[in-house]
Amino acid sequence: MKKLSAEELISLEEKYGAHNYHPLPVVLDRGEGVYVWDVNGKKYFDFLSAYSAVNQGHCHPKIIKALTDQSQKLTLTSRAFYNNQLGVYEEYICNYFGYEKVLPMNTGAEAVETAIKLCRKWAYNIKKIPENLAQIVVCENNFHGRTTTIVSFSIDPDAYRDYGPYTPGFTVIKYNDAGELEKALNTNPNIAGFLVEPIQGEAGAYVPDDGYLSQCYKLCQQHKVLFIADEVQTGIARTGKLLACDYENVHPDILILGKAISGGVYPISAVLSSNDIMKVFQPGQHGSTFGGNPVAAAVAISALEVIRDEDLANNAFELGKYFRSELGELCKKSNIAKSVRGKGLLNALIINNEGHKNLAWDICLKLAENGLLAKPTHTNIIRFAPPLVITKEQIEECVEIIKRTISLFERLNK
Ligand SMILES: Cc1ncc(COP(=O)(O)O)c(C=O)c1O
Repeated sequence: MKKLSAEELISLEEKYGAHNYHPLPVVLDRGEGVYVWDVNGKKYFDFLSAYSAVNQGHCHPKIIKALTDQSQKLTLTSRAFYNNQLGVYEEYICNYFGYEKVLPMNTGAEAVETAIKLCRKWAYNIKKIPENLAQIVVCENNFHGRTTTIVSFSIDPDAYRDYGPYTPGFTVIKYNDAGELEKALNTNPNIAGFLVEPIQGEAGAYVPDDGYLSQCYKLCQQHKVLFIADEVQTGIARTGKLLACDYENVHPDILILGKAISGGVYPISAVLSSNDIMKVFQPGQHGSTFGGNPVAAAVAISALEVIRDEDLANNAFELGKYFRSELGELCKKSNIAKSVRGKGLLNALIINNEGHKNLAWDICLKLAENGLLAKPTHTNIIRFAPPLVITKEQIEECVEIIKRTISLFERLNK
């Protein structure tokens, strides 16, 4: 096959692909650990990690071995039959996160849909909410995926506009305000669940106040309402603990995981819960052709082993603290970098883009030129989320790149 240039590859995507993304003009060809290389051989630090899917680093040899070994033996059976990987994985992931049952799916959005269906079925079969009246409380500025039901409760017009009619049954309240949840629970007896991101990732690493999650969890328990944590982005060591909920000793009734369950190698997601809740699903009532396939099972076990064996939660915790303190210092002196927030290695730099609407985008272009890939979210926020295998020396180098890039814009602005 003829080797195509970066420009040619971009124009193929432009011509034949739907324009539902706006990528940075970088064409990647290879990845290893915290690094990716473009088709011209230029090396970058990956500070997006495929939206936190590549926590274990690109092409982790152990995970790739699990993928290649299993994919030469048996890839897909469907759930019409048993396979020799699934049960072993189910036991492993349940013990790993402290749950009794798992329901395996493929993408994050599918797992969120699964959790919504599980919650509703539980509401009618166990809580005895009258038919079709169950409500799930969600938060403003949420991001839970792109299906028609999920965008029905988004407040971002880009996510929901022109996709109606919308799925009813959701009540949107303010994030980071347990009083709002209490009010909703006190006024509506038909609330079945509270679906929440422990940190709002797509909203720009928005961290709620300490105590918010545990207060909400307590309220849910008092009102017999399921606390459903969407840890698709925050889970699996990203925020400096295995789960972001661990910071507040919250054990969600339903836990939603995706992305890094596979270390970015394969689309894998999971919904974890108790026997009492999961028992509402009977054969034929929910499923997926690929969910729980043998390759996914083998890959997920090895990706979760890497998290533990390499102590990646701790690394994210320590290096995250260092990263925020360095960027915090930068913000004190800068007119452009306003503030930094986040937990572990899920962080965001807030950019002052007054008078220069595309500033965050332009900074990301310059960061790329300087060897670091990051992507803006909501025009004025740059998310920084490197693979968790990053070392202290590497993150020091990255802090220097970020400082140097911001100071360049500082000089241009004068
Ligand atoms: C919190 C959260 N939930 C769900 C999703 C959807 O996952 P997927 O893109 O795999 O469907 C995402 C994706 O970014 C997410 O951040």
